[in-house]
Amino acid sequence: MAALVQIENVRKKFYAQVVLDNLSLEIREGEVFGYIGPNGAGKTTTLKILAGLITKFEGTVRVAGNDVVKDRSKAHAVIGFMPQSCGFQSWRTVQSALDSLAELSGVPEALRKQRIPALLERFKLLDARFKKVKELSGGMTQKLGLIQALLHEPKLLVLDEPLEGLDPPSRNLLKEIIRERQHAGTTVLFSSHILSDVDDVADRIGILNRGTIATSGSIRELVTDFGLPLEVEVDFATTPADPGFLAELGTATERRPGEWRIRLADGTASDPVIHTAIERTLAGGGKIRKIGLVKPDLDDLFAQYIERGHVN
Ligand SMILES: Nc1ncnc2c1ncn2[C@@H]1O[C@H](COP(=O)(O)OP(=O)(O)OP(=O)(O)O)[C@@H](O)[C@H]1O
Ligand SMILES: [Mg+2]
Repeated sequence: MAALVQIENVRKKFYAQVVLDNLSLEIREGEVFGYIGPNGAGKTTTLKILAGLITKFEGTVRVAGNDVVKDRSKAHAVIGFMPQSCGFQSWRTVQSALDSLAELSGVPEALRKQRIPALLERFKLLDARFKKVKELSGGMTQKLGLIQALLHEPKLLVLDEPLEGLDPPSRNLLKEIIRERQHAGTTVLFSSHILSDVDDVADRIGILNRGTIATSGSIRELVTDFGLPLEVEVDFATTPADPGFLAELGTATERRPGEWRIRLADGTASDPVIHTAIERTLAGGGKIRKIGLVKPDLDDLFAQYIERGHVN
């Protein structure tokens, strides 16, 4: 697949601070790409460069072959952008704010009349269409930003933390919409802090840390890449007389009363550890509720990855 977005050696400074440092990244046509990174990593800066809102930077950025600085309007026409904080004209009603933005994006009136109510309905905002933008709650404003990005059915959706601030049904709805748009051929780039959310919809993710891509790939590839130690969890129904034997099996910590995690030393096979834990528990008069290998928690993985300050 051809690359729809090409970011090459981008360097961006705000005053003396280097925010993006030789950032290179390609987003392929038709994929959903999750852009992950801790606060201040440079996600918003990258997305603003793509959307043409930041034009002073070194390097090249192309969208569908158009340079975002030199061919700004051509690149812009391809993108639907939802900023992290949306600057709507707050005195307008929801309906008129959306209508004027869609008009600016070149959506003909007949289509606006059809798409605006349909999207408002889907996001459960139809009742609020005559409210002023400034009267909306945080989550409602967030939804307005999303609808605005979706209205002209762009080839590339660029969403800056679209799931933030949404309630669980709305998060699910948005994930559903992302999948639908992907089926219709749209490429989606969205940022988030929450790796598990990204895992639900993204084909590939890129982890940005300190202004550069620390790693990218499918979630499965990254989990292997993280190279984290194995952990065995042991939950006791009845704790054995002396659970001290757990510490002989690895680094044991009690996370809640009766619920233990044993971190295995590098290269240790998990099956014998589980077997020994069962034997010793029974010998000590205990009972096991649950035992097994811990399925890696993506958010844990991400936190540990960032903590290690790991930039390859
Ligand atoms: N207009 C600006 N002027 C000066 N510094 C800025 C400006 N915009 C961003 N920065 C700095 O650039 C760095 C990256 O900011 P950016 O908003 O891109 O991070 P982010 O990854 O989106 O973070 P978050 O997860 O908090 O949204 C931060 O240190 C921030 O303070
Ligand atoms: Mg941001």
